[in-house]
Amino acid sequence: MLVTADALAETALTGAPAAVSPPGPTPCLVMDLAVVRARYAELRAALPGARVYYAVKANPRAEVLGALADAGCGFDVASPGEIEGALAAGGRAERLCYANPVRTPADVAAAAGHGVSLFVTDSGEDLEVLADGAPGASVLVRLAVDDTGSATPFGGKFGCSPARAVSLLLQAASSGLDPAGLSFHVGSQQSRPAAWADAIAVAASVAADAGLAVRILDVGGGFPVPYRTPVPPVAEFGAAIEAAVRRHFPGRRAPELAVEPGRLLVAEAGVLHASAVRVSVRDDGRRWVYLDVGRYGGLAETEGEAIGYRLATDHDGPGVELAPAVLAGPTCDGDDVLYREVALPAALRSGDAVRLLAAGAYTASYASVGFNGLPPLAVRCVDSVGPGS
Ligand SMILES: Cc1ncc(COP(=O)(O)O)c(C=O)c1O
Repeated sequence: MLVTADALAETALTGAPAAVSPPGPTPCLVMDLAVVRARYAELRAALPGARVYYAVKANPRAEVLGALADAGCGFDVASPGEIEGALAAGGRAERLCYANPVRTPADVAAAAGHGVSLFVTDSGEDLEVLADGAPGASVLVRLAVDDTGSATPFGGKFGCSPARAVSLLLQAASSGLDPAGLSFHVGSQQSRPAAWADAIAVAASVAADAGLAVRILDVGGGFPVPYRTPVPPVAEFGAAIEAAVRRHFPGRRAPELAVEPGRLLVAEAGVLHASAVRVSVRDDGRRWVYLDVGRYGGLAETEGEAIGYRLATDHDGPGVELAPAVLAGPTCDGDDVLYREVALPAALRSGDAVRLLAAGAYTASYASVGFNGLPPLAVRCVDSVGPGS
């Protein structure tokens, strides 16, 4: 199969960050903080009244957290370590939401000690721990919702049924906690605005059944980014969410909205600069391109080819000849294969640069600490605009 670069040009990343300048040794993830700020501003415009809690797990780099904190963003944290990172970067305790319901009494005590007072929960056991370690704290009960359309769904790990949510809200109230509202997550890289609308309908029915006012409705993260295929703009998701809230929470009962975006704010800010360690045609007749970064160097989301990063090389250009390749990582592990077939320039050679675009989310935070003696993924932050501009 031969395809031309015109096909690639058609889908060229628009608004690519300035962070494509050569970063020195590879692999290296270069993050453009100006893009992070721009995505945050777009989200604020799409959902003007919503609290925004950036999901730190997506990219916990201090400069990223600092840029968002300076812009007034809150943080979705999943452990005491993430709480400390968010606070050190300028986040405020009252703008943190501890959204991981899997935690120990020591984790809850540490969070409360830091002044965190908003927790997401999905079990009676966790509520007991919260009532003990963070008395009086506000809780959001996480619903399990339909995640059809998500590229990386949660597989049933979190959330509870509507009936259980009602009893958890009542349990929270009777154990001295503040049953502030409900939350859900429609699965990451979720392409269907209707996924949020459907989940909001479920949340409204739970609120009615519990007979409690939902003060906060946390509609989670999941907002998609254009990897190899276009996705609707964030404004479309915002409009679907606001319309569903108006429809299902009519009148004065409308809750305050919260969102927990991860991928949306940081993916397109990152370019992962890599190099081809080896390009060779193997006995299977296929061209194998081995990069110096792979599944264990931060590309965990290529498992099952769930996330398809767009690739760029110095050979790209009008009319360049492309040929199929298997793209693999550098380690001695057989699972370290990223894509079974991608189109790359036929002229690509060992040592050439390969860039993975929109790679700022769930890469550095997933990189192993030293598998095969390889160091964790290096990260460099740049600011193509400057915070004041
Ligand atoms: C509780 C919670 N909130 C928010 C997010 C961020 O999701 P996304 O990156 O899809 O926006 C995640 C991701 O795993 C999560 O677990």
